[in-house]
Amino acid sequence: MTKILIGSDHGGYNLKTKIIEHLREKGYEVEDFGTHSTESCDYPVFAKKVAKAVLDTGHKGILVCGTGIGMSIAANRFDGIRASHCTDTFTARMTRMHNNSNILCLGERVTGTGLALDIVDIWLNTDFTGGRHQARIDMI
Ligand code: RB5
Repeated sequence: MTKILIGSDHGGYNLKTKIIEHLREKGYEVEDFGTHSTESCDYPVFAKKVAKAVLDTGHKGILVCGTGIGMSIAANRFDGIRASHCTDTFTARMTRMHNNSNILCLGERVTGTGLALDIVDIWLNTDFTGGRHQARIDMI
């Protein structure tokens, strides 16, 4: 069973809850790294937990905050993490194909639930193209 590692701050908590439900319904195993309520907290704490777990396990991660931006900035500080902030399905597909993205970042205050779940599905079901795109990743 494919395992997904997920985290959010308070600004992403409600969308994270819906994503977890969606993924479990589809048969994914999901490990939730928090936060566990809408009480104010610090997004870098959860970005770090998920980024380290992605690097340790090789599983894909999903991070949600208010905009998706803070999570992507924080997660991309970890060598080997390619965190992609997506607000549409085209970039969700392309960032898997060309960037071999290993963390998807979403903004609960930006992207509606229906679109966010489509983005998650496409991001999880698109393979990396490899070839010249691997060579470019190796240059980062
Ligand atoms: C929290 O208010 C908000 O700043 C955070 O969720 C995120 O959007 C940061 O980038």
